[in-house]
Amino acid sequence: MAGRAVVRGVGHYLPEQIVPNAAFEKTLDTTDEWIRTRSGIERRHFAAKDETTSDLATRAAEAALADAGMTADQLDAIVLATSTADLTFPSAATMVQARLGMTNGYAFDVQAVCAGFVYALSNANALIVSGQAKRVLVIGAETFSRIMDWTDRSTCVLFGDGAGALVLEYEEAAGTPQDRGILSVDLNSDGRYKDLLYVDGGVSTQTTGHLRMQGNQVFRHAVEKLAQTAETALGKAGLSSADVDWIVPHQANIRIIQGTAKKMGLPMDKVVVTVQDHGNTSAASIPLALSVGKARGQIKTGDLVVTEAIGGGLAWGAVVLRW
Ligand code: UT7
Repeated sequence: MAGRAVVRGVGHYLPEQIVPNAAFEKTLDTTDEWIRTRSGIERRHFAAKDETTSDLATRAAEAALADAGMTADQLDAIVLATSTADLTFPSAATMVQARLGMTNGYAFDVQAVCAGFVYALSNANALIVSGQAKRVLVIGAETFSRIMDWTDRSTCVLFGDGAGALVLEYEEAAGTPQDRGILSVDLNSDGRYKDLLYVDGGVSTQTTGHLRMQGNQVFRHAVEKLAQTAETALGKAGLSSADVDWIVPHQANIRIIQGTAKKMGLPMDKVVVTVQDHGNTSAASIPLALSVGKARGQIKTGDLVVTEAIGGGLAWGAVVLRW
């Protein structure tokens, strides 16, 4: 017998304000056509002035708990992936914990930028299979609109705000690739690539900073490393690309998503794509896509799902799970 972390519920929240590509034509030397063809993005959501990452996270968490038919006091832990927490401390996770009325258990943030949700899932899985927690709420939430340089057309048109969440619960399982739940994880980082994608400020430099990216360099690493990590994770689970029902990739660029699927030998009708509506929401993009994919009727109980992501660090990884 083995224990697995099984998905019990999923949910998401997107801020009300939707910004179409055309909005950037007024202030920047860019076009809807360029943004659409180079990235696949058509629109994104931006948080309201008084709306913070923990606000978005709380709404997504409430939706996931409702979907699971659970209340917050049944949770043992909250793991929240973000690079845009409300405050330097406490963690956004403890702020969500308070907002949900959860006074037991523990909550903490994970920071691995766009790979954050994959890292958070891996952490939550480790807590569950080691017996440290039975039910864990895993959230990805971001307000990247707060770290954009609005004069830099090569970055500010690409990102958006949002949040998604999953509820995971321990379940006894046979220990085979047919089990439901998280089957394998592959995590990687290589700090030598810091300069390709970073924010040029932070607490210790006493500035907030803005996102800086050498997009075409990150692009090259992305297609190669994402297919590699997805295949490594599948191998660890005793599975291969042929077993995959859905790839749920980090939603940064449709060309990266297509390139990764092609390298894995999978058609685009096995890929959940939301980049056109959300833009790049960093750690929120995978749980948003999982939630939207389920709501669209794409992801069903028993489906084999592979999530994969890469971002600042560089940090990248994949999680294989049976829904
Ligand atoms: O989520 C974390 C991981 N991040 C990513 O995965 C992002 C990875 N990178 C990308 O998605 C793509 O590299 C971008 C969408 C950022 C850029 O696409 P690209 O095909 O790699 O374009 P490029 O950076 O090579 O730039 C091509 C041209 C440049 O002009 P020149 O030098 O050829 O004259 C840019 O200045 O496009 C220009 N450009 C723009 N033109 C119109 C850059 N941004 C814009 C813009 N509008 N918004």
